[in-house]
Amino acid sequence: MRVLVIGSGAREHALALAAAHDPAVTALACAPGNAGIASLAEQLGVDVASPQAIAELATGWRADLVVIGPEVPLVAGAADAVRKTGIACFGPSAAAARIEGSKSFAKDVMAAAKVATAHSETVDNPAHLDEALARFGPTWVVKDDGLAAGKGVVVTADYDQARAHAMTLLDGGHPVLLESFLDGPEVSLFCLVDGRTVVPLLPAQDFKRVGDGDTGPNTGGMGAYAPLPWAPDGLVEQIVADIVQPVVDELAARDTPFSGLLYAGLVLTADGPQVIEFNCRFGDPETQVVLALLGTPIAGLLYATATGKLAEHPPLEWHPGAAVTVVIAADGYPGLPRAGDVITGAESEGVLHAGTRRRDDGAIVAHGGRVLSVVGLGADLAAAREQAYERVAKVHLAGSHHRTDIASRAAGGEVTIPAR
Ligand code: AMP
Ligand code: GLY
Repeated sequence: MRVLVIGSGAREHALALAAAHDPAVTALACAPGNAGIASLAEQLGVDVASPQAIAELATGWRADLVVIGPEVPLVAGAADAVRKTGIACFGPSAAAARIEGSKSFAKDVMAAAKVATAHSETVDNPAHLDEALARFGPTWVVKDDGLAAGKGVVVTADYDQARAHAMTLLDGGHPVLLESFLDGPEVSLFCLVDGRTVVPLLPAQDFKRVGDGDTGPNTGGMGAYAPLPWAPDGLVEQIVADIVQPVVDELAARDTPFSGLLYAGLVLTADGPQVIEFNCRFGDPETQVVLALLGTPIAGLLYATATGKLAEHPPLEWHPGAAVTVVIAADGYPGLPRAGDVITGAESEGVLHAGTRRRDDGAIVAHGGRVLSVVGLGADLAAAREQAYERVAKVHLAGSHHRTDIASRAAGGEVTIPAR
């Protein structure tokens, strides 16, 4: 099978690495890729925002399967364009990708599917902002109603900060979504969906804030671990039955069936799991830990998903133990990252690349906010953490920063679901 991966982050590096280990894969390419992916896949150029360019590349390269990593091409219709050429594509149609691309569409689908989620209101007129804010908080959750790469969200107990963020969004012409605050540990559950059948992967946890102890602004994700030793028995089955399957059925009933990876971002509240958001693609950095534990060959699995044959696929196999990933970010991230600094130690085992580029002289340099995602494995979370941080210590990038507490509370048995 000739597999073409679209994207350039550590998520795509993890997908390419898994595909490279699948004996069914005879050729592997990635567009636009990065310096790390280039060591295991042919690197091709493409404008990821152009569905037409992706479809032409897939045809020209004679792909059997296209795996689209990021949300931007999916929301723009890249999967539709690829499928129109007759090539199998892992990723939802533009219509189904609205589950991520439009928060108000997602809320509408969830209401119809009777899925528990935060109460929300959209504000598009500054004159209505103060009265709307008064109906929420403290704590306030203020979001951009559109794609914002996880960075358009402010969660704060400070009224002035909440109001200021909402005004910034409104001044930029973006409607604002206010949400009730969900209290409890967060879970990312990735599900393979072929339109009807849902196959969950291992649950993971992501760390959104830039600083240790969940301080500072939200980012795209600074680290992750899987599985969740603190999760109650039956949690995944409960989330699939009460949340994911009803949403998949609702999308099918609307003639916009979802095919690809449906990512449920949840909070385990005292009243049960509630949805923060759905994403229409693998999450980054959770993919780096989930795929590190997947034993099932990935290409056949994604191909079965893309071609509506998940129900016939054998049950998934998982390696025992745990995985932890720590993101190394460039100076300045999540603000404007500094680019061009040389990275050493980036070609070691467990180091997945995100924002990297190979310079003409052969040096690997930083080229993005999240630069590397370093993965460690172990018999349990403590051991996986130890390996991840040992590997982080061997990487050098001037001015870079990373969190030192990824998975530490989970490894210490300190994560609990609030009681009623
Ligand atoms: P989002 O971009 O919607 O995934 O939000 C980014 C992050 O903000 C989430 O991962 C949560 O940590 C936090 N967040 C978003 N919505 C809520 C909510 N309603 N209650 C509590 N935390 C939230
Ligand atoms: N890990 C968060 C995301 O991929 O949206």
